[in-house]
Order: sequence, then C-alpha cells, then structure tokens
Amino acid sequence: MATLTPSKILVVFGTRPEAIKLFPLVAALKADPHFDCKVCVSAQHRGILDQVLEIAGIVPDHDLDLMKPDQTLDGLTAALLTGLGQVMDLEKPDRVIVQGDTATAMCGALAAYYRKVPVDHVEAGLRSGNIYHPWPEEVNRKIIGTMVSLHFAPTDVSAGSLIAEQVDPARVYITGNTVIDALHWVTARIAEDPSLASGLAELEKRFAGKRIIGVTSHRRENFGGGLENIAEAVRQIAARPDVAIIFPVHPNPNVRAVMDGALKGLDNVALIDPLDYPHFARLLGLAEIMLTDSGGVQEEAPALGKPVLVMRETTERPEGVTAGTAKLVGTDVSRIVTEIFTLLDDKAAYDKMARAHNPFGDGQTARRIVELLLRETGQET
Ligand code: UD1
Ligand code: UDP
Repeated sequence: MATLTPSKILVVFGTRPEAIKLFPLVAALKADPHFDCKVCVSAQHRGILDQVLEIAGIVPDHDLDLMKPDQTLDGLTAALLTGLGQVMDLEKPDRVIVQGDTATAMCGALAAYYRKVPVDHVEAGLRSGNIYHPWPEEVNRKIIGTMVSLHFAPTDVSAGSLIAEQVDPARVYITGNTVIDALHWVTARIAEDPSLASGLAELEKRFAGKRIIGVTSHRRENFGGGLENIAEAVRQIAARPDVAIIFPVHPNPNVRAVMDGALKGLDNVALIDPLDYPHFARLLGLAEIMLTDSGGVQEEAPALGKPVLVMRETTERPEGVTAGTAKLVGTDVSRIVTEIFTLLDDKAAYDKMARAHNPFGDGQTARRIVELLLRETGQET
C-alpha cells in the first residue's frame, strides 16, 4: 500500500560526472509522488557542474558553492564534511544518495552515516585494486562501500567485487549505469533540437576530411610527468596531416597549463573549453577514436561503438577491455602514439574495436533504482 508521507531523499553531488550520472535519477525521483527529492550540490566543480545543471533543468535546493582554485584534497574534504552535514541537519532526509567516488560522494556518505541516515550508492563496487590508480577515487569508493545501505552496482563485475569484500549480497543490486540513461536522453534531445549541439560547426569545417581523435585528460595521478607525456603524445599524433585532435581541456589549472604550454597554436589541434554534455555527445559522434583518462568516457564510447584508448595503468571498468572495445595504454608517449597509429592504419584492428555494445547498461537504470527504493522504503504499490 502507498503511504501518505513521501520519503525524503537527499541527492548529493558536486562534479560534472556525478551530475551527468545523477540527473536521470533526480528526474525519476521527482516524477514519483512517493518521494520528496531534494538536491544538494557541493559545487566542488563550478562551471562544468553548472553546464550539466542547465541542460538537465535542475535547480538545486542547496548549493554550497565550495570550489576554490587548485583546491587541495584535505581543504576540500573538510569543507565538504561540514557543509554537507549542515544541510542534512536542516533537511533531515530519510535517505541520502551519492554517486561514484569523488570527495563530495565520500563526504556525503560520511555525513549521512554520522547522522545514522541510510546512504544508497549509485555506481557501487568499481575497483581497480590499486589505491593510487585512480587516486584518491579508489579509496573514496571503498570508504563509501563500508557505509552503504543499498549498493547499485552497474554490472556483475562490480557486484562481484562488493561480494568479494563481504558485503551482504542481499544489499547488492545490478542496475546498470545511469550514464547510459543520460546518453540516451541527450541523444534524443539533440535529435529533437540539433542546435543544442551545433556549436562545433566551425571546427567541423576547419577539420573537414581529417580523421578526428577526441581527447580528454584530468586525473590527479597523472599530474606532472603523466600529463606532460600525454601532451607530447598528442603533439606527435597531430604531426600526421590526415589527423585532427579535438581536446576539450578540463578547467583544472594543472591540466590547462601543461596542455596550453605544449599544444597551443598547433594546426591540427583544437584545445577548447570544456563542452557541455550535448556538444560532448556530438564530439563522441564525430571522433574516430577517443583517447582519455576519464571514467565516464570509458562507458560512453563503447555504447557508441567508438574505440577508446585509456591513458591509465589500471581500470575499474574492465568490461570494455574484456569486450575488446577499450584498451589500457598507460601514459608512455611511444605506447600511446603506436596504439593510435595502429588504429588509424590497420583497418582490421580498428574494426575489431569499433563495435557498439552496452556492458554498462540499457538506459533503464534510473527506473530500476526507483523501484528498488520504493521497495526499500515500503512504498511499493
Ligand atoms: C574531480 C574528482 C574526480 C573526478 C573529476 C571529474 C575528487 C577528489 N576528484 O577531480 O574524482 O573524476 O572531478 O572531472 O573528488 N575547476 C574549475 N572549474 C570547474 C571545475 C574545476 O576551475 O568547474 C578547477 C579548480 O581550480 C579546482 C580544480 O579544477 O580546484 C580541481 O577540481 P577538483 O574537483 O578538486 O578535482 P578534479 O581533478 O576536477
Ligand atoms: N564531458 C562533457 N564535456 C567535456 C568532457 C567530458 O560533458 O568537455 C562528460 C563526458 O561525456 C562524461 C563525463 O563528462 O559523461 C566525464 O567526466 P570527467 O572525465 O570529468 O570525469 P570522470 O568520468 O573521469 O570521473
């Protein structure tokens, strides 16, 4: 039987990828009268978070506006824990939802735990097995996993990792990843209104006839030598006249400085500001290959049949690697260049990787999570 009092769910996030992966769930919760869904953003990111809030039409109930230039992990963590705790004291939610492995997610879970409020985890169970790759995300998600009520694991691999850590299997659900819900949504929006993604037209004209490679990079563990290697690899790849690189640069000053220093002004390289989600989806469509150290891009590219070379030593998303549509290439310059050239020059190697498949979900993850929350809160009809 439906109860008369809706469950109050506080959804907490702060960065671009969390916003992308949570907007489908926020929409689904808001559409269901069994829930009173409140949104708190830490704004650990600012501009690139706001880009997502705007396209998704989310107006947060609370905005902590925490981002500081070149923020430190300890300063950010301290501010997050205090600020998110204050919001929880004000809202008194029945449950808190966090996503992934950012500082905001870890502090959101901890602040809820300190108040004995159940925390549910979207994208639970991802593990690389190395606490410094990615850093600090591997530890963030392990900490979160110790406090969670419902673990929404994207795949059987992530569910298996939780069970191997002695998590009660009855609390682990394989739901898929909401990123595929988001990708389906944005693709449909662009189909209805192509002007949402028309801002790349000038670049498309400039690079007409060239083979486009999309690049993103931002991982803290790659700061310094890793980022310099990535920049050098991009420079060498762009020396080929048949290639063009479109590289939306993460606003982190550590990333920006290296990429500007090494790549600005090169004919075949467009270093551009971060793209909003529809434009990034357009770039995924234009690119022949994605070269990235991002987590989310490793999930989106296979769904679109784009080979993705991952500039990391390990991945917590082995599903694409196992299926052969993603490949770990690390941050060694000659390895990155060789792997890209192989895909450009060996059609059989390219075709083997360029297969659309969806290990990360079917676009129905938010609906599944809402059904599980209805059951958990005793509101199943
Ligand atoms: C954060 C997350 C990481 C996630 C990534 C997604 C942590 C510790 N890291 O890393 O897990 O993969 O987001 O992008 O939670 N900045 C801006 N404008 C913005 C956003 C960032 O200027 O809109 C700059 C600021 O100088 C900020 C810096 O980037 O201090 C770093 O931001 P931060 O959230 O601490 O780390 P990311 O490397 O973005
Ligand atoms: N993204 C975007 N604009 C960009 C770069 C990335 O909208 O210029 C999206 C991308 O589609 C993916 C997410 O941001 O959904 C990935 O974010 P990021 O790489 O910053 O974080 P990670 O996934 O590594 O945590």
